[in-house]
Amino acid sequence: MTHNPIIVRTLTELRGQIWQWRGGGESIGLVPTMGALHDGHLSLIRLSHKYASKTVASIFVNPAQFAPGEDFEAYPRTEAADVAALASARCDLVYIPDTHSMYDEGHSTSIKITGVAQSLETDHRPTFFDGVALVVAKLLNRVAPDFTIFGEKDYQQLATIRRLVIDLDMPVKIIGAPIARDAHGLALSSRNRYFDEGALTLARKLNVIMFDCAAKMGAGMNVDAAAAQAKQDFLDAGFESVDYVAVASAHSLTPLSGGVLDRTSRLLVALHCRGVRLIDNCEI
Ligand code: PAF
Repeated sequence: MTHNPIIVRTLTELRGQIWQWRGGGESIGLVPTMGALHDGHLSLIRLSHKYASKTVASIFVNPAQFAPGEDFEAYPRTEAADVAALASARCDLVYIPDTHSMYDEGHSTSIKITGVAQSLETDHRPTFFDGVALVVAKLLNRVAPDFTIFGEKDYQQLATIRRLVIDLDMPVKIIGAPIARDAHGLALSSRNRYFDEGALTLARKLNVIMFDCAAKMGAGMNVDAAAAQAKQDFLDAGFESVDYVAVASAHSLTPLSGGVLDRTSRLLVALHCRGVRLIDNCEI
């Protein structure tokens, strides 16, 4: 049976509904998204149902996290399909603010986040996590959920948001969700829709090489040598460039020191596939 979500676009409407639910004793889960939804997002909605009695999804393509030259203008905007997908996953409310409502002309506040947000992605997208932290803080303040759910595909983003809510004393529990993959192991991403068949075939080699590298590291191969080999394997497979193949502690994201794995080591990869930047990660 279809479960049509309530759609709200203004903060007043949003707060009215949240207050009504709170008055009725409901608990609230928030899944922030930029739309262009896929099954990975829907798995976050389904996970939210396990924690909260009402689930809110937000759809907002956040200009603050795109650098000049990135794909802000071209980012897919597919609102009708997104709302239908959210209905199929039994989402209760979809919050779709416009840019002016999030950042009016007087907007003057920024967030500078360091620690887990340094290195890896930040070496290649220096202002990305500051923009993510800002919009996530605003969405958490607006929705005031009990739980908020983020996918582990954006592993450093998840770690950054965990830090953000600790540092700003935000009363919300962060839930990390396992990476959703297609039948070939490709991590689901809104940007996968940029691919034609040839690019998709190449993109699917990312996870194969990454898991192979993690298995070699886990079996005792020197970490630096395994990472260097994976980097070469990516280039030989046809990826145009590799931003990083890195091993870091899963919690602090500090790079592995002395090539020694610990129980929480995580392998993280970012590379370019036919003009699209892809990231992925796995346990070792
Ligand atoms: O992961 C995303 O889709 C975005 O970075 C997020 C968390 C919705 C913030 O805009």
